[in-house]
Amino acid sequence: MTEKINAIRGMNDILPDEAGLWEHFEDAVRDWLHAYGYRAIRTPILERTELFVRSIGAVTDIVEKEMYTFVDELNGESLTLRPEGTASCVRAAIEHNLLYAGPQRLWYWGPMFRHERPQKGRYRQFHQVGVEALGYAGPDIDAEHIVMCARLWRNLGVEGIALELNTLGGAEARTRYRARLVKYLERHHDALDADSKRRLHSNPLRVLDSKNPDMQGLIEGAPKLADDLDEDSLRHFEDLQGKLRAAGVAFELNPRLVRGLDYYNGAVYEWVTGRLGAQGTVCAGGRYDGLIAQIGGKPAPACGFAMGVERLLDLMKGGTASVPRRVPDVYLVHQGEAADRVAGTVAEHLRDREISVLLHCGGGSFKSQLKRADASGARFAVIVGDDEAQAGEVSVKPLRELAKQARVSLEEAVDLIKKDEMR
Ligand code: HAM
Repeated sequence: MTEKINAIRGMNDILPDEAGLWEHFEDAVRDWLHAYGYRAIRTPILERTELFVRSIGAVTDIVEKEMYTFVDELNGESLTLRPEGTASCVRAAIEHNLLYAGPQRLWYWGPMFRHERPQKGRYRQFHQVGVEALGYAGPDIDAEHIVMCARLWRNLGVEGIALELNTLGGAEARTRYRARLVKYLERHHDALDADSKRRLHSNPLRVLDSKNPDMQGLIEGAPKLADDLDEDSLRHFEDLQGKLRAAGVAFELNPRLVRGLDYYNGAVYEWVTGRLGAQGTVCAGGRYDGLIAQIGGKPAPACGFAMGVERLLDLMKGGTASVPRRVPDVYLVHQGEAADRVAGTVAEHLRDREISVLLHCGGGSFKSQLKRADASGARFAVIVGDDEAQAGEVSVKPLRELAKQARVSLEEAVDLIKKDEMR
């Protein structure tokens, strides 16, 4: 036998049994975004590498070691499979002058790619739903984003997701803080691990994000950004907290929350759960007021967030939320020459009347076809034998209740099936 070919590690197939849950999630997400007036934007999966280097930052885990980057041999250009959606969304908004028409509430959805070590909840191809508000200074819109997340968790029936909040302040405050932090870290140079030594001058704030247990004492004792914060950021942050309290959204302040992407400033947040093991962040975001200018647009404030779809679905699977299985209304059973000729037409007629039909293909006895009908989950079998075909009729057999099979005209069959739908 020829050797089989498997999928790439960390890149998952979503099989039909699971696809129902994904569709249920996608439908809920679309309704939710519509309720808040967000409009969809779709951007290519492949972008120029430079876009991510300039936005996410050259000295970040994502850019340093997680991107799928290759050279397009036709023109020597370096291209990258998108590791996240914010950069592409902002690039597209600039390129097509979307902000000329006023601020934009946008959303996107799709696969992202990061070359991480795969484990439960962490994949190399994963999916995000992202929301971006471009041209809004906040904090009303920051609050809207958080409140809308809280509503989505309720709509999906997922529990146990907590909100952690921090502010990174404006650029000047961060420069001041950075200088203080570097001094502190330099004083403790010998206690730094290799990663932190490397980051000490290129991206010292990320040292605070280290998960290395040996570094935790040092991090605890580090100067706090809160002491350097500028008045504008503080007011924005206070205001945001007030709005969340008014909306009844609980949160916890986490001064160590710095985020792994460089474009953030001001308020940032993560939605975390203890129910997924090590990969407990299901959604994250914040303000990125400098990004639009940084990638060539006219300066404008912005903020947004993205959720990890696989992680949320895992929570839904582990929770009490029930996911309806999508089944056809009718399984169409047919046997005999005359019946085979009309079966397709009967199915199309039913579909014209908005009845979903699984047409049996591949022949077989009535008995074996009815077995398939039962397994399909359909509510009815519509049976066409040669007798029915000649009389221009069909037999309707309810599959989910003990009711008699009825031989009727096609129009009567439509009525019977529709009447059941109304019940
Ligand atoms: P992020 O924190 O890098 O932010 O990713 C957002 C979410 O995507 C994470 O909280 C997590 O749920 C999910 N995620 C990330 N990496 C993986 C992975 N390897 N496997 C499974 N899920 C993953 C961003 O991407 C920003 N663009 C969010 C944002 C939008 N900020 C402003 N606007």
